[in-house]
Amino acid sequence: MRKKHKHLYKIFFPPPDKAVTHRALLLAAISDGSTVISGPAVCEDTAATAACLKKLGVKISSSRGRLMVKGAGLRGLRKPSGPLNAGESGTTMRLLAGLLAGQEFDSVLTGKGSLLKRPMDRVTAPLAAMGAGISSAGGRAPLRIHGSRLSGANHKLLIPSAQVKSAILLAALYAEGPTSITERLATRDHTERLLKYLGARISSGGLNFYLRPGRLNARNIKVPGDFSSAAPFITAACLLPGFKLTIKGIGLNPGRTGLITALKAMGARITVKPAAAAPEPQGELIVYGSKLQGIRVRPDEIPAMIDELPLLALAASRAQGSTVISGIGELRHKESDRLKATLALFKTLGLRAEAGQGRLTIKGRQGIFGGGTAETFNDHRIAMAGAVGGLFAEKPVKIKNPGCVKKSYPDFFKDFKKVF
Ligand code: S3P
Repeated sequence: MRKKHKHLYKIFFPPPDKAVTHRALLLAAISDGSTVISGPAVCEDTAATAACLKKLGVKISSSRGRLMVKGAGLRGLRKPSGPLNAGESGTTMRLLAGLLAGQEFDSVLTGKGSLLKRPMDRVTAPLAAMGAGISSAGGRAPLRIHGSRLSGANHKLLIPSAQVKSAILLAALYAEGPTSITERLATRDHTERLLKYLGARISSGGLNFYLRPGRLNARNIKVPGDFSSAAPFITAACLLPGFKLTIKGIGLNPGRTGLITALKAMGARITVKPAAAAPEPQGELIVYGSKLQGIRVRPDEIPAMIDELPLLALAASRAQGSTVISGIGELRHKESDRLKATLALFKTLGLRAEAGQGRLTIKGRQGIFGGGTAETFNDHRIAMAGAVGGLFAEKPVKIKNPGCVKKSYPDFFKDFKKVF
């Protein structure tokens, strides 16, 4: 059971955004001129991106919370001496596949653990349509990329994935002729914002994007706080009566903040104070302990909360009435089968949820949670959800392999203990 707090008013500064840091590194690497990335995410996934870029000849140095990247220009990357290792980072592998497809050299992209099991055909197929020569191991990594002359293409994206969209945009910088992309459902637009910021000829309207190939001009990039890293804090604060949590410097990209929309629809009191910032919107959040009610979540709302669904499911179990979350198919392709992992976490906590036909149904008011050993399936988001569940459990919740949080937020448990 949660320890009693003397002070229920806390302030929290989330760690820097992983998704923005990946893109800042990749785009700075191929820009003309040098970039200072201030406040980059320091975690295993972004370290993998930086290490791959160094192997491609990009000079990256770090000092006092900044990364300095000497841009190689669009055509300045060098053939790596061996395979590039993306570790367990899906964003590193998929975005690099797009970047490497149009180079004048061949390369091999590999990884480890869960990444070797994740689908890569979603990215190799649209790149192949642009003339890329990529072979995979039955749709999985390693990817063998034969640097090719690319041509622009018109893509219709059926799978809602910002990683796939971003890979196509990176390849499109190297293509002959323009590339257009139409998304079925809107996904986070970090890459588009950064491309625009760096002078790329990109235009967008609703679900449509249009990019003409061209060079990028280096500009310093400020990384906001990571919404997904803050999400366990937002969820926990919402569920604790009398709690008030101020979150400073948090990224507020509309493609990421679906958890706020859902919690507000459930009746949560959350104040959002946007600040002027570029290329990424950011600001302050104040989250109050609130009484929640069950809601219906539509498939088109899912991409903006894709990494927060285990947390939303936990919140739903404490709300009044049932919650139905539709369109959750993509959950199966994350660091773990995140649907299976969420159901396993629910079981450990003595909670019930039903999954079927692309929907997750959670009965509300499930009372005090049980406890025990929570399996993480080596998935950082499940470990973090486990910590939130532990606040409401009767018996201690022991998180198996808690080190998996290093993927995105190495200090998660230390920070979480400070706030809750
Ligand atoms: C990410 C996009 C999402 C998300 C992942 C990071 C990104 O994946 O789940 O953690 O950086 O673009 P998909 O694009 O595959 O949905």
